[in-house]
Amino acid sequence: MEMMVIHGGRPLHGTVRVSGSKNAALPMMAAALLAEGKTRLKNVPDLMDIRTMAKLLRLLGAEVTRDGADLEIEVEDDRLVEAPYDIMRTMRAGICVLGPLVARRKAARVSMPGGCAIGSRPVDLHLKGMAALGAKVAVEHGYIHCRAPRGLTGCEMYLGGPFGSTVLGTANVMMAAVLGRGKTTIECAACEPEVQALAQLLVAMGARIAGIGTPRLEVTGVKRLHGATVETIPDRIEAATLLMAGALTRGTVTIENFRWDHLMAVVHKLQEMGVKPKRNGGDVIKVTGGRRFKTVDVSTMPFPGFPTDLQAQLITLLSLADGISVVTEKIFPDRFMHVAELNRLGADIRKENNTAIVNGVRKLSGAPVMASDLRASAALVLAGLVAEGATEVRRIYHLDRGYENLDGKLRKLGARISRREQPPGEIPKDE
Ligand code: EPZ
Repeated sequence: MEMMVIHGGRPLHGTVRVSGSKNAALPMMAAALLAEGKTRLKNVPDLMDIRTMAKLLRLLGAEVTRDGADLEIEVEDDRLVEAPYDIMRTMRAGICVLGPLVARRKAARVSMPGGCAIGSRPVDLHLKGMAALGAKVAVEHGYIHCRAPRGLTGCEMYLGGPFGSTVLGTANVMMAAVLGRGKTTIECAACEPEVQALAQLLVAMGARIAGIGTPRLEVTGVKRLHGATVETIPDRIEAATLLMAGALTRGTVTIENFRWDHLMAVVHKLQEMGVKPKRNGGDVIKVTGGRRFKTVDVSTMPFPGFPTDLQAQLITLLSLADGISVVTEKIFPDRFMHVAELNRLGADIRKENNTAIVNGVRKLSGAPVMASDLRASAALVLAGLVAEGATEVRRIYHLDRGYENLDGKLRKLGARISRREQPPGEIPKDE
């Protein structure tokens, strides 16, 4: 197992290009199960979670091949319907095969995903959606059993949960409804760019979907879908993490493939903090770090609000701001594992229920820290870039699940960052 060793204090300079989005690509890969013919996804990042999804699709009878940054997926055997525990326990996004399997193969047996480091991750809304479309749903012995021998039927449904819309729940229900009979209205649908990208792939396959990008999706079922070729959208979380790295290290970084329209909430919060990102036309942004950050109060929210997947990284920046900031997590109330680790680096953060009260300090100092999940790892890497001395981020495999070559990209910008074998005796825990 590897750890990352970062010697902080170097401003980053140069140009970096954002990879394709993992969270867009995963449901799009599952959508390939719906099509008759080849689905080609361009610019798919080469990451552990993508490889795990490819493995799952192969178990479900699909051929998956990678050619450079492109993936080609084609169903060869459409009788298989089981997503086993051994895969689902390592990657929750495997739940995305539920909708396509029920829609196309009329049955699914999908292991219940467990909780993970960011808290409890229920799937009740996914199941509610399948049941509303007429599937028989049961959970037994840790597996979701879904059957719809006569196909699915369109309906109206409200898909909001206690914390608002659900990203993968919306993806699942939309993928189930595209082959259903008649019209399905999904109220309180997720509007995230990744859900929009999935809807656009489905439309390219021949699906009929109105309201893409709004909280009301209207899906009119069609008899069959054909293959399609689409480009994966840039990873907005990686883009913003790089932007924050530039601002934090007081460097000058140009970021290509930065979708401003996907990151308005983040750009505006950073502007409030005194960061001045400049658009260089198209999808290029330039950030120059300057003075000490001003404080801000932030609540995470579904899109277009501030994303939960950037809460940890923002806390790293605010831990060096000039005063007290309040960060409230409204999607995953327990997603604060990074707080204790940032405090080990000298930050002054107090957690109260779903809120972090961040008292800005003048400097951080390097130390060994432990990554607990993907975005917490990114927050610790950011902290390492400015901490005095060496920061060792252990269990870096979390980062590799979702960031394509982040250390390589940071190194190219001038960061002193390397990988080493982690000291023995630390046993990783599955997510
Ligand atoms: C997606 O997870 C992302 N994962 C997460 O990214 C991201 O944090 C999350 O959306 C929120 O933006 C992928 O795209 C693969 P949700 P998802 O269903 O869809 C509650 C990362 O770091 N809920 O939108 O599983 C849920 O508990 C990851 O890349 C229910 O109550 O999240 C949460 O409070 C981590 N019942 C809220 O809804 C359900 O059935 C939103 O979760 C489903 C969700």
